[in-house]
Amino acid sequence: MNESYDASHTFSLCQRQLRRVARTCAFAILLCLVSQASIATAETGTASIRFDAATRIFRIDAADTSYVLGINEHQQIQSLYWGKRLGANDSFPAAKAMPGAAAFDLPITTTPHEFVGWGGGLYVEPDLKITFPDGNRDLELKYVSHHIDGDKLSIVTKDISRDVYVTLQYQADAETGILRRSAEIENRTDAPFTVEQAAAATWNLPRGTDYRLRYLTGRWAGEWNVQEQAVHPGKTVLESRRGTTGAQNNPWFAIDHEGNNDQDTGGVWFGALGWSGSWQISVEQDLLQQVRVTGGFNAFDFGYRLQKGERLQTPYFYGGYSSHGIGGASRLLHRFEIDSLLPHAPTPKLRPVLYNSWEATEFRVDEPGQMALAEKAASIGVERFVMDDGWFGQRKDDHAGLGDWYVNPQKFPHGLKPLIDKVHSLNMDFGLWVEPEMVNPNSDLYRKHPDWVLNFAGRPRTEGRNQLVLNLARPDVRAYVYGFLDKLLTENDIAFLKWDYNRNWSEPGWPAVAPEDQKKVYVDFINNLYSILAELRAKHPNVEIESCSGGGSRVDLGVMKLTDEFWTSDNTDAYDRLLIQNGFTYAYSPGVMMAWVTDSPTWVNQRTLSLEYRFLSSMQGSLGIGANLNKWTPEDFATAKKMVAQYKAIRETVQRGALYRLITPEDNSEQSVTESVSRDGKQAVTFAFLHSSRERYPFPRIYLRGLDAGATYRLAALDGKLAGDTPDSASGAYWMNRGVDVQLNGDFQAAAFTLQRVE
Ligand code: DGJ
Repeated sequence: MNESYDASHTFSLCQRQLRRVARTCAFAILLCLVSQASIATAETGTASIRFDAATRIFRIDAADTSYVLGINEHQQIQSLYWGKRLGANDSFPAAKAMPGAAAFDLPITTTPHEFVGWGGGLYVEPDLKITFPDGNRDLELKYVSHHIDGDKLSIVTKDISRDVYVTLQYQADAETGILRRSAEIENRTDAPFTVEQAAAATWNLPRGTDYRLRYLTGRWAGEWNVQEQAVHPGKTVLESRRGTTGAQNNPWFAIDHEGNNDQDTGGVWFGALGWSGSWQISVEQDLLQQVRVTGGFNAFDFGYRLQKGERLQTPYFYGGYSSHGIGGASRLLHRFEIDSLLPHAPTPKLRPVLYNSWEATEFRVDEPGQMALAEKAASIGVERFVMDDGWFGQRKDDHAGLGDWYVNPQKFPHGLKPLIDKVHSLNMDFGLWVEPEMVNPNSDLYRKHPDWVLNFAGRPRTEGRNQLVLNLARPDVRAYVYGFLDKLLTENDIAFLKWDYNRNWSEPGWPAVAPEDQKKVYVDFINNLYSILAELRAKHPNVEIESCSGGGSRVDLGVMKLTDEFWTSDNTDAYDRLLIQNGFTYAYSPGVMMAWVTDSPTWVNQRTLSLEYRFLSSMQGSLGIGANLNKWTPEDFATAKKMVAQYKAIRETVQRGALYRLITPEDNSEQSVTESVSRDGKQAVTFAFLHSSRERYPFPRIYLRGLDAGATYRLAALDGKLAGDTPDSASGAYWMNRGVDVQLNGDFQAAAFTLQRVE
């Protein structure tokens, strides 16, 4: 179904249901009619986009969310409502621009816009700023037309005098209510112009003064810290100027009302950018107490020259609303990622248990050493064996080899085939580490093509980890990178690539193109990265890819569409990981969060932790083993074998279920407890961790969530001790209200148990 311009229209979708019943067309039509009729009460599974021609109001309803916008008397697209779903018959009066606040804040500044150009006296963050060749920099966008196509809405706007067209794009997700927004900028003038700032969208929150902003910060080996601060008048900018996503800020935000300390109640507005280059999200409270969140390309050093007839698509900015607290917001995002974003959505494959050689061998990989590790990994139930850095070129350490993607003949005299065959004979598939966008100056590639890296002519080329960044925006570099990866995957039976990226940009010049086009590198580099990933996946559909960037520095909803999992952090200390993993799951699903069990004492901080503790910490995400198995005792192997088997029995719940943070490890908490409930509600898995006990205080009672109060669940301990009076089975009501006591005393203790629904 499809509607253009201003005809009144209602469309209902039931995406997931439709997919399931698509083969029975008549039934599908019937189902849609039914859900159309029940739109007032439906909470999930429906999306509708309606336009009221009389009031010129657009209303998007999806799952438990309503989003309303209108065309005001100045033909501007004005935000009217974003929040919990409204009644089907609730109506909005026509949008009316806000009055100005004296002569200092004109209506263009006080009115909440969906997407506003810099012009006409705008002082808040613009969505778009353009410089024209004649020096004009004024841009005022007005409504031209719109088009509704199922769950998609596009609204065409145009500058008041120049042929700059901007199409605002919306797509509603029926299951989660998450909206995907983006803008396409088109030059229909007769001359080129330069886009100096371009956001995907602005989200306007209901007026309020008691908002709290949550966001994620970090650094190498210390990613995923959850920050909280009050939203005050003024602006907070979350950003990366690094050419890549970065760990210092992650492109995600959540805003709720201050003082709500319950994870699972209260309204939360949240969003995340799908972009792996420099990005920016500004959270701004104006002097009229309106809060707007604007996000897209980072305006710093931005400049994209659009020739006549060319278009620029901004990144996607996803936004949603939950009335079930920050926990509910995370669960919606996780669900959206699994069902709608990941490469095989809505049924991405469960993550196999993998072994990775990095912490065991670092660069010292060779055929006999890897074969020995593979045998040991297979013996505990590992399903995927991954050889990390060091297998190629003249790579002995991080000073040489990047860029020369031939198999090192000393380490692997017969190529990779004998190792891959060995891994297959052990019933595992084979994965390999690559870092395609980088080059060591000490490499054949750099000696041959010194002009292939990001650089400003005649200026120093600053190295990070002894490497430089290849300019992937260049067509020849793109061809080289795609070519070697395609060859590697064609010639070898490789099931998995760990795609690393171990530094950020410096001197981001592109001397080969005209000076006016050099800043296009910020967009073209990332689009080429995406197109390489897409092309490789199309040609090698069984290959899975992990996005790694020295840990978790390239995790975002853009690269997620093309990769299957993320490396969370190089910090693999199982206690530090509780905090790191906790932060990761605010925005990203535990199903894509790789978590290795590594050696103890750990290289990170020399902390000693039991193997059981290390396993339970990692089992909260996608389990991997990264330890030096050559040092393990027979008891270690026996423990590991048992715990890998346990993980396989719960992994679907952990990877795809609903996550509840029962006690967060934030604020130096002495405890951390998570619970995952499977999609079908048949299994719940709880992990509990104690940092250190004091004065014989018991571990806090654990009150479970998300169970069916009336159903019966049988309890089984995975590891650690439960209180002696814990029943073997009880109702969901019991587990949620009476709760469970675990017996954890001393330092660094852990326990885990499952609840299985009794049919
Ligand atoms: C950084 C990654 O995060 C590590 O896991 C490892 O792959 C090294 N790079 C290899 O150089």
